[in-house]
Amino acid sequence: MSLLDVIKTRRSIRSFNDEPISDEDAEKILDAARLAPSGGNRQRWDFIYVKDPRVLRMIKNCSPGLYGDAVAVVVIGMEMVKAPFGGADYGSIVGVLDIGFAAENILLAAHALGLGGCAIASFNESCIKKVIDAPAAWRPILLVSLGYPSDQPKMPPKKQLSEVVHLDRYGRKWERLEGKT
Ligand SMILES: Cc1cc2nc3c(=O)[nH]c(=O)nc-3n(C[C@H](O)[C@H](O)[C@H](O)COP(=O)(O)O)c2cc1C
Repeated sequence: MSLLDVIKTRRSIRSFNDEPISDEDAEKILDAARLAPSGGNRQRWDFIYVKDPRVLRMIKNCSPGLYGDAVAVVVIGMEMVKAPFGGADYGSIVGVLDIGFAAENILLAAHALGLGGCAIASFNESCIKKVIDAPAAWRPILLVSLGYPSDQPKMPPKKQLSEVVHLDRYGRKWERLEGKT
């Protein structure tokens, strides 16, 4: 599959069969995360790969947004930096963006390997921290569930290109995109 096909056919997977993920595939997926772009190349992320069924159960209990019995979950987080003068914590905002890039790499690599997964932001932070024994200043930002899909969901409604793309100026339409789905 070409990269564009991987991007186009990836879906959020929320139901899985119980086939385990080989450690070789897990390593490929985590390596894709490691290679994601990051602001200033700071790579302020940690990926906690959870495959122990007992720990997975506890993660699930912390995460109302985690559907299905994933055979692995990647907890992605980072140490938060203190804003120097009480202003916006710019470094941490960029760090959170970086984690979004890494998560997409995980989802695309998983899909390319025949696996599936879903990003999950709906979880209880302190509960997750306790389960994985994270240090105080470290915050989980996103979970990614992983496993072999037990169904193939249809693409949910997506906005048309012409609805979200502006040409040269805000609000200016690009004619070639009109009417395309
Ligand atoms: C930052 C983020 C958080 C998300 N959190 C959840 C979640 O907690 N639970 C869930 O089932 N899906 C979650 N999703 C998945 C979205 O619902 C999904 O990407 C969206 O419906 C589009 O579907 P698609 O991924 O198949 O294109 C999240 C996605 C993103 C990017």
